[in-house]
Amino acid sequence: MCGIIGYLGPKSSTAVLVEGLRKLEYRGYDSAGIAVVSGGKINLCRVKGKIKDLEALLKKNPIDGDYGLGHTRWATHGRPNEINAHPHQDCQGKIIVVHNGIIENYIILKQKLLEKGHFFRTETDTEVIAHLIEENFSGCLEEAVKRVVQLLEGSFAFACLSTLDPEKIIGVRSGPPLIVGVNDKEFFLASDVVPILDHTRRVIFLDDGEIAVLASEGLKFFDFSGQTVNKTIMELNWSPLMVEKRGFKHFMLKEIYEQPQVIRETISGALSLDTGEVILPNLAASAERLKACRQAVIIACGTSYHAGLIGQILFESIAAFPAKVEYASEFRYRDCLISPEDLVIAISQSGETADTLAAVRGLKDKGGPIIAICNVLGSTLVREAEITLLTQAGPEVGVAATKTFSAQIAVLTLLALWLGQAKRSLPKEKALEIMLELQRIPHRMEEILNCQDSIETLAHRFASYAHFLYLGRWISFPVALEGALKLKEISYIHAEGYAGGEMKHGPIALIDEKMPTMVVIPKDRIFEKMLSNLHEIKARDGLIIALTDSPADLGQQVDYLLPIPSTHPLLTPFLTVLPLQLFAYFIANRLGADVDQPRNLAKSVTVE
Ligand code: F6R
Repeated sequence: MCGIIGYLGPKSSTAVLVEGLRKLEYRGYDSAGIAVVSGGKINLCRVKGKIKDLEALLKKNPIDGDYGLGHTRWATHGRPNEINAHPHQDCQGKIIVVHNGIIENYIILKQKLLEKGHFFRTETDTEVIAHLIEENFSGCLEEAVKRVVQLLEGSFAFACLSTLDPEKIIGVRSGPPLIVGVNDKEFFLASDVVPILDHTRRVIFLDDGEIAVLASEGLKFFDFSGQTVNKTIMELNWSPLMVEKRGFKHFMLKEIYEQPQVIRETISGALSLDTGEVILPNLAASAERLKACRQAVIIACGTSYHAGLIGQILFESIAAFPAKVEYASEFRYRDCLISPEDLVIAISQSGETADTLAAVRGLKDKGGPIIAICNVLGSTLVREAEITLLTQAGPEVGVAATKTFSAQIAVLTLLALWLGQAKRSLPKEKALEIMLELQRIPHRMEEILNCQDSIETLAHRFASYAHFLYLGRWISFPVALEGALKLKEISYIHAEGYAGGEMKHGPIALIDEKMPTMVVIPKDRIFEKMLSNLHEIKARDGLIIALTDSPADLGQQVDYLLPIPSTHPLLTPFLTVLPLQLFAYFIANRLGADVDQPRNLAKSVTVE
């Protein structure tokens, strides 16, 4: 969850590292630091706080160097303060380490190092790596690192350098991602591609158990047993502009606005309206195995889990294909009965969520084919899954997922159509009806975005409430969960998502004039039932905001309306989630919250 950056090349290292950290800040933001090497001397700068605090300190006490490492932290071991901020050093201050992840056996290692006379400056697990390298160093940094990785337990990625073996940066991956960027005469190392994109699109993804050596004479790769590994350079199709705010106040708002285009890109080329077919070339090679599957097991966390719940309904209603959805963090510890006839679908925006990866690894050789629905080419999930369906959302920088959620449901809709087609469970007319309407979704989303002002006004009216209930049923229930998650994670307002029919089994006790209810009520098969839920709330003096495509049918029963265009009942989540994202955004912005970097969160959850 921390961000690592390394640079070796002719530019100002400090400038490259700080700019890189700015781009990585969404991975962790409680402290930050850089170490740069100049004239054989290491210069360090570290602060508690954000990258802007690091920049302010660097302005007061400038440092620069020919190469260096930077880090933005999301604390696991040791409080977020200046001392615990990375980079960390060995006893002599000649070896520098930045680290992401957890060294699980650090207490035992630290004890042994203390007995050997090493002294520790911090409370972190990371510092043991620097001292272990010191202990194992005999002239060559990568040789010391090869010995040290044998001693470490846990899930970690780290980078190190040393003035004792200069002009060299080593990167190690055993869990969290680490990527090498290659340009003419310069090398980069980073926790994800975003900071590298400013300089080059040519990247190499380290696999687990690999070591990269970036040196002025070139690149080398080894596995943990010391064997040389040949790696392939990949060319990314993301551009640096994609990670700029481009006039929007926050990345989250920009990313909400990108959704119509994201849906266009994600479904582009997949719908053949002439033949009524869905074409997903990545499934072609495994088509027979997929057809033989009897149910889908969808695994994901957070917002991706909510997309999975929508996927379940799409599979049932479009393809008559049974599906169950599981939290990856729970699933991985259960004794699940899974068979080769189960199609495993792992959904993850980042492709690096530790729980999702662990759940998928636990299923290998037990279940059937594994499909990854992911936004990041080259991510661990993509490399480990048998089949990938990429969401074409471009890089998502705001910590709260928005456009990747819509892209995930677009892919799940395509997959449901494909399964229905492959299993002959979907009549052609029904397929065509859904496909035609799916094509119109981006335009309908634009209609909603044009009403931004009225959503903002409504959000401001509700910004002072401390609690919210979000209700939905059937395909709108996951949307209610997602709306509540968006509000709580960026505004810190308590919000609960609930299935409308479950209200009377408990949550109705909460309703009073201080607890508004956001009701997601498109005119679908469950509309009349949701109306009864509205009556129940009104009878208890509850305030109701209704998100609906059928305002005329609601009359006086609701206090406020969020109107949306109509669409096919199975596609309403594309349209209902959008106002909820905006509602959460405008409340959080009104309250002055740090929308793109909410407290305690990180974009990529690479620890358990
Ligand atoms: C919420 C959010 C998180 C992620 C979750 C899974 O806005 O972003 O709940 O959805 O951490 O992340 P991925 O999709 O990267 O596996």
